[in-house]
Amino acid sequence: MQISDDYSPLELTAEQLRRDVELTLDYLGHHLTTLDQQPAWDLADSSNSDISPRETIPVSGQPLKEVLDELFKERMNPSYNPSCGGYLAYVPGGGLPHAAIADLISGIVNKFITVWQVSPGFANMEADVVQWFAGLVGYSEESGGYLTTGGSLANWSAIVTARRVLLPANFLNGVIYTTAQAHHSVTKSAILAGFPEANIRVVDTEELSLSTNHLQQLISNDLSEGMRPFMVVANAGTTNTGAIDPLINISKICKQHEMWMHTDAAYGGFFMMTERGREALRGLELSDSITLDPHKALFLPYGTGCLLVKDITHLQKAHKVSAKYLPPFQENPQHVDFCGISPELSRDFRGLRIWLPFKLFGAPTFASYLDEKLDLCQHAYQQISELRNIEILAAPKLSTFAFRYNPAHKDLDEAELNELNQRFLTELNASKRFLLSSTYLNDAFTIRVCVLCFRTHAKHVRLCVDEVSRVVSQFNNA
Ligand SMILES: Cc1ncc(COP(=O)(O)O)c(C=O)c1O
Repeated sequence: MQISDDYSPLELTAEQLRRDVELTLDYLGHHLTTLDQQPAWDLADSSNSDISPRETIPVSGQPLKEVLDELFKERMNPSYNPSCGGYLAYVPGGGLPHAAIADLISGIVNKFITVWQVSPGFANMEADVVQWFAGLVGYSEESGGYLTTGGSLANWSAIVTARRVLLPANFLNGVIYTTAQAHHSVTKSAILAGFPEANIRVVDTEELSLSTNHLQQLISNDLSEGMRPFMVVANAGTTNTGAIDPLINISKICKQHEMWMHTDAAYGGFFMMTERGREALRGLELSDSITLDPHKALFLPYGTGCLLVKDITHLQKAHKVSAKYLPPFQENPQHVDFCGISPELSRDFRGLRIWLPFKLFGAPTFASYLDEKLDLCQHAYQQISELRNIEILAAPKLSTFAFRYNPAHKDLDEAELNELNQRFLTELNASKRFLLSSTYLNDAFTIRVCVLCFRTHAKHVRLCVDEVSRVVSQFNNA
């Protein structure tokens, strides 16, 4: 090929950009305005191989409209619809449109933000966002952190940090304590951080929260066997039920044994913006590190998590490795080189995705949305718990609760109850206007309601409550 000055098939003029973005917005506008009419879930029959056939690498271009048609008309479903108001399953996600506008900007300007010197304005913006979060959880100026892709990565980085700070290079006698209610990413993170599964202790729970008596016992056993108890991973809002571990007492035990306390607040942490959340999460600031997930309770698009560490030097100790081809690390602690406190070098500009919505709406708007979720959950809980033969398995601590249908007079065994509740949930979700998910608590199949999507309002919760009531009557009369 001849070299030339004007070979630029990948480039867009400002006018072409506007045209393509406007065309895309037509599709997005339709998507947004019809969200309430769209199914909250619509899953593939996995035996149907016609669904989204895999394709080979394209060798010629296609018009944008054709590609958008494929995307929005052929590929969008079957799927879960986590950004619609009826999505009450798992831990719902967000998808704030302004975060997408931020991504459009950061994708086009494409600055490098993990080395402070090469984009100080943007690096400071991300550092500010992290400091806002640190302030929300009650951390001091000594703290720091960085934005991850999600809670799983934050949990992993926390375990690696604790390991690097507290254990020698040969760390295989280090023991980590958590409960069966912890998110599975905790076990996965411990394994990825190099620990055998045998070094993970499962602490008993009392009403789904960690038993500090059992924790003490396990630590004593391990000490007497020459192991090094070095870390507790506590929960501030479990995925299953929103349960919260006794953070203040766990912190005391950690101090006594020079252990690291990490709190997984991926779901619960941002409720610290509300008065009820601060009350429920008392002691969160005592943790040595905290996982937050802005793509959960701050309603951002997926790919936005956060790890906070009480003492920023600990993150440096775990992650700082220099290279001759990079500018030197900054001496001024106000100038944060994110590549020196996190695993990544080149990455997307997650900070703008958070900064822009906060600049436009202010923190109190987010707090009021979270208060609304707490109220909606309480409402659903009260209504559903009054229905005949509903057994509450976990009352709400935040915006999640769990229940099952249990006609006590029928004297069913656990296996029969589980089978009955699977049918109950299938019937409940059949309209596809909302989605509830399930879990097992001990061995009991359990239905969960988690109110967290910013688009979930009274009408969505009413719909769910009415449907639970209808299915209860149907099952009672069967
Ligand atoms: C309590 C908790 N921790 C960690 C995670 C993992 O977060 P992510 O999916 O962002 O990796 C989740 C996900 O739902 C969670 O609920």
